Amino acid sequence: MGRPVNVGVVGCGFIFGQYVRSIERLPELRLVSVADLDPERAREAVRGCPEVEVLSVAELMADPRVDVVLNLTVPAAHAEITLQAVASGKDVYSEKPLAATTADAARVLRAAAEAGVRVGCAPDTVLGTGTQTARKAIDDGLIGRPVAATAIMLTPGHEGWHPNPDFYYAPGGGPLMDMGPYYITSLVTLLGPVTTVIGAASRTRARRTIATGPRRGEEIPVAVDTHVTGVLVHASGALSTLVMGFEGAATGAPPIEVHGERGSLSVPDPNHFDGSVLLARMGEEDWETLPAAAGHVGAGRGVGLADLVTTPAGRESRTGATLTYHVLDIMECLLSSAHSRTAVTVTSTCERPQPVTFRPAPR
Ligand SMILES: NC(=O)c1ccc[n+]([C@@H]2O[C@H](COP(=O)([O-])OP(=O)(O)OC[C@H]3O[C@@H](n4cnc5c(N)ncnc54)[C@H](O)[C@@H]3O)[C@@H](O)[C@H]2O)c1
Repeated sequence: MGRPVNVGVVGCGFIFGQYVRSIERLPELRLVSVADLDPERAREAVRGCPEVEVLSVAELMADPRVDVVLNLTVPAAHAEITLQAVASGKDVYSEKPLAATTADAARVLRAAAEAGVRVGCAPDTVLGTGTQTARKAIDDGLIGRPVAATAIMLTPGHEGWHPNPDFYYAPGGGPLMDMGPYYITSLVTLLGPVTTVIGAASRTRARRTIATGPRRGEEIPVAVDTHVTGVLVHASGALSTLVMGFEGAATGAPPIEVHGERGSLSVPDPNHFDGSVLLARMGEEDWETLPAAAGHVGAGRGVGLADLVTTPAGRESRTGATLTYHVLDIMECLLSSAHSRTAVTVTSTCERPQPVTFRPAPR
């Protein structure tokens, strides 16, 4: 292998630390510079890492040392920062969603194709042993032909733990746009692309109260639906039922279940890389735990960026723009269906991403 790929990060907020810890363990990647709208936040984020430069966003984009931009800004800024990186001729990996709207995401895809640079997008949790072992079980025929799935995420909302949760309640946020990418990317990985959606959505409160950090007690406006539910019709004919809510105290429902003609699978939380995959064979009462058999072992956020930079030119990475555009399109169509009260055809599609073979943890 040649030298590691140099990473410049834009956005040094809450999730930044998880990426840095992961990049340190990935031999393909080296963090060289950071930028944030708030330069003090950027300086604070890399205190103790003298080799990492703190730059302005414009300086980072123009820096010839930076090979790939890691976009960890808030959803409303994703398209703008990704487009700046593309215009600088750099590959980009963005936190999810790819953009706040499919119109902006389409601009990103067009610009990237014209510039000949690669764009990837979170979530990369689906490359871990949880989703990948479940996918292998389906591909190996353990449940027969998949017929249906459920995907359920219910929490009280992120204002309980995030010090600046405004973006979760602004356009591009909400439980669907925030958590939907994990569940829908997992469903597309397991069952393939979606052709039609039928949705329903609601919101209960016009304002939410921040419960932690320096802004504790401050009210923020809610501009998005906070409970979204619906059915995704996959091209294969399988039907997935989705429930994404910031309105539930807790849930005991499994994050994802897939039911096939010969058995059912319980799939671990797609917001995590690992977790147990359980199989119930038709006619047997007990669930058996399947050993981890595919995916990156002990992975962290950043493994999708490593996948992007190691994917040969001309091939789409496992978290590539076509997949992540399709996931965003599904979510937008679901909200549109909820508001129009009609089924909506999803016009985009994608291939199921390449599976990940069983990969031991790096270092
Ligand atoms: N917080 C989590 O647990 C978590 C988990 C997974 C994914 N994510 C995703 O990661 C992204 C960031 O989330 P976060 O929790 O770190 O948010 P955050 O608000 O804590 O941090 C975002 C940072 O980006 C900076 N920023 C915003 N716009 C910018 C711009 N135009 N130019 C430069 N800097 C800009 C902000 O100043 C801030 O420091 C979001 O897309 C979120 O969905 C967050």
